[in-house]
Amino acid sequence: MSNLYSVGLGVGTQNQNGEWLEVFYPAPLLNADAAMGDALAAAGYQGGNAALEIDTQVMADLAATLKNTGQEEQANIAEQLSNSERPLVLTVLAEDNAPASTPEAYLKLHLISHRLVKPHGTDLSGIFGLLPNVAWTNEGAIDLAELPERQLQARLKGQLLEVSCVDKFPKMSNYVVPAGVRIAHTARVRLGAYLGEGTTIMHEGFVNFNAGTEGPGMIEGRVSAGVMIGAGSDLGGSASTMGTLSGGGNIIISVGKECLLGANAGIGIPLGDRCTVEAGLYITAGTKVQLLDDQGQKVEDVKARDLAGKSDLLFRRNSSTGAVECRTNKNAIALNEELHANN
Ligand SMILES: CC(C)(COP(=O)(O)OP(=O)(O)OC[C@H]1O[C@@H](n2cnc3c(N)ncnc32)[C@H](O)[C@@H]1OP(=O)(O)O)[C@@H](O)C(=O)NCCC(=O)NCCS
Repeated sequence: MSNLYSVGLGVGTQNQNGEWLEVFYPAPLLNADAAMGDALAAAGYQGGNAALEIDTQVMADLAATLKNTGQEEQANIAEQLSNSERPLVLTVLAEDNAPASTPEAYLKLHLISHRLVKPHGTDLSGIFGLLPNVAWTNEGAIDLAELPERQLQARLKGQLLEVSCVDKFPKMSNYVVPAGVRIAHTARVRLGAYLGEGTTIMHEGFVNFNAGTEGPGMIEGRVSAGVMIGAGSDLGGSASTMGTLSGGGNIIISVGKECLLGANAGIGIPLGDRCTVEAGLYITAGTKVQLLDDQGQKVEDVKARDLAGKSDLLFRRNSSTGAVECRTNKNAIALNEELHANN
């Protein structure tokens, strides 16, 4: 059998109809080799992209095969999963195609949050349709149709079923906490976010799926779906990055290295390296911008989209004239070492 794009041994939750609500993959694999493929074939995998529900005996046999072929890490996971009282799944992606099932969608989100692929690095087409909207509770994921009954059952036992959110995406930290990050409010980071080493997400910060940070960096604003923030950049309190999921925008927003988006600032264009956006200034692609020279004299008028991806720029709104201005950024930021130390 040839190499595989990804393999995940997982345990998850199903509703009363046996439909998957979510899957946890403790150690997803990217680029599994042919030996792994052969071991999986013995567990019933017949090629292509597939999510196979398997029982504890098949998982135990798989653990033994993996061990015999020297694949210790996955053997160890399979051995632990073989004691499960919850449904087990073997998800294999031969190719990086659009996900076709809930377990496949969850495996792809895991690949990003485990830092095995970067945002935009795996095909997530159609993912919304594959993720059920779920009540995330202190008893795990619950199908919304089954929630009233579960709430009543808990009350009758004198307990409270805590519903912490109702969403298609769970919080990332209930699946993986990558090394070297701080997340002040875990509900603000969805599974499928990519947090590079040295990233701090403050309470007001938010990171959507297929988006994230190279790290290090301080995020006190919102990183929308599809947006990537470069190393050493800082999103100030409530700063906003424009996503492409709604509103017709089709430019993929990104922020380069060592940029500062001031508090309440926002961008609808990608920024290059060492750019600063003044607190409170929202630049959209069509914003008219006056380019200034070193003496502060206007050189020309451009649209912000013409400056997309350019480095060493400072954007501000002239508080006397109201015009948005852009000049060379002479004071590229240095992250506050003390604030940004993660460990
Ligand atoms: C845009 C910004 C970076 C400019 O800061 P700066 O480079 O230190 O500039 P200064 O405030 O020293 O101002 C330099 C000059 O420009 C002028 N100036 C600054 N902003 C101006 C504006 N919006 N309109 C007109 N003049 C302005 C100043 O009055 C000063 O004039 P002077 O030379 O005559 O004294 C800063 O205002 C800012 O918004 N920082 C963001 C901080 C932030 O939000 N961090 C995140 C926290 S959560």
